[in-house]
Amino acid sequence: MIPIKDREAIVRMRESCAIAAAVLHRLKALVQLGISTYDLDQAGRDLIAGYGARSADYGYQIGSRRFPAHTCLSVNEEVVHGIGSLKRILREGDIISLDITVEYHGYIGDNAITMPVGVIAPRVAELLQTTEEALQVGIKQAQVGHRIGDISHAIQTLVEARGFGVVRDLVGHGVGRSMHEEPQIPNFGRRGTGEKIKPGMTLAIEPMVNLGTCHVKTLADGWTVVTADGQPSAHFEHTVLTAEKGPEILTIPRPLPPPVFPPSSVPAPSTHN
Ligand code: MF3
Ligand code: CO
Ligand code: CO
Repeated sequence: MIPIKDREAIVRMRESCAIAAAVLHRLKALVQLGISTYDLDQAGRDLIAGYGARSADYGYQIGSRRFPAHTCLSVNEEVVHGIGSLKRILREGDIISLDITVEYHGYIGDNAITMPVGVIAPRVAELLQTTEEALQVGIKQAQVGHRIGDISHAIQTLVEARGFGVVRDLVGHGVGRSMHEEPQIPNFGRRGTGEKIKPGMTLAIEPMVNLGTCHVKTLADGWTVVTADGQPSAHFEHTVLTAEKGPEILTIPRPLPPPVFPPSSVPAPSTHN
């Protein structure tokens, strides 16, 4: 069953998504030549705490492993779930994906962008542009009465028309009290298939697109997903509410009180289930 959010849950989702968007917006501004992904992760941690929220990534469990960082920072051939490292220093021509997932008052907001560091190769710039557009065409399909497969199909069609590879092994997802809820939202698929979209769903739509092969593998750290051919990959993500009026992007930065350092309130305790 796909969870349907009532008015109260939607208010909460708006808050967590606004914080996720604000953290992402402020972290973007810190991306520069010479910074390590460890330092960016620390800045992400402080920003999340500064908004009185909690990183939904930190301690996130798959099997017996717990994710050790506060944000997902993935450089070049890293697709998603990169762990900030002092050894990964941003260089001219790199791309970096910033994926921020926060919990606030029990609800989760999830969003990501990929951005250039300095001047990047033209085909890599096209990769970023295409992935961002793929997210937009996917969101456009998140209409009440459509099906999840309509989102998948729109994304795949655009990406493949541009000659890029859509990652199959990772998918978008419902998001709410848990980071990953039903439904799964693949970035490939057929129109008119999958669950019907109803009012009050909150969906994390997130195309992951590779310059070369669509195949990926996971590094020995158990988390970092990289392209099988070592070529760059991009990732854009929004949390979207399927409102009666049409899809509403919840993770758009809007004016919020600035973060407070050190945090004025202790982040809410974890409610992982
Ligand atoms: N933000 C990711 C997503 O888009 C999930 C993070 S996985 C974690 O679904 F391990 F970092 F928590
Ligand atoms: Co995410
Ligand atoms: Co997500």
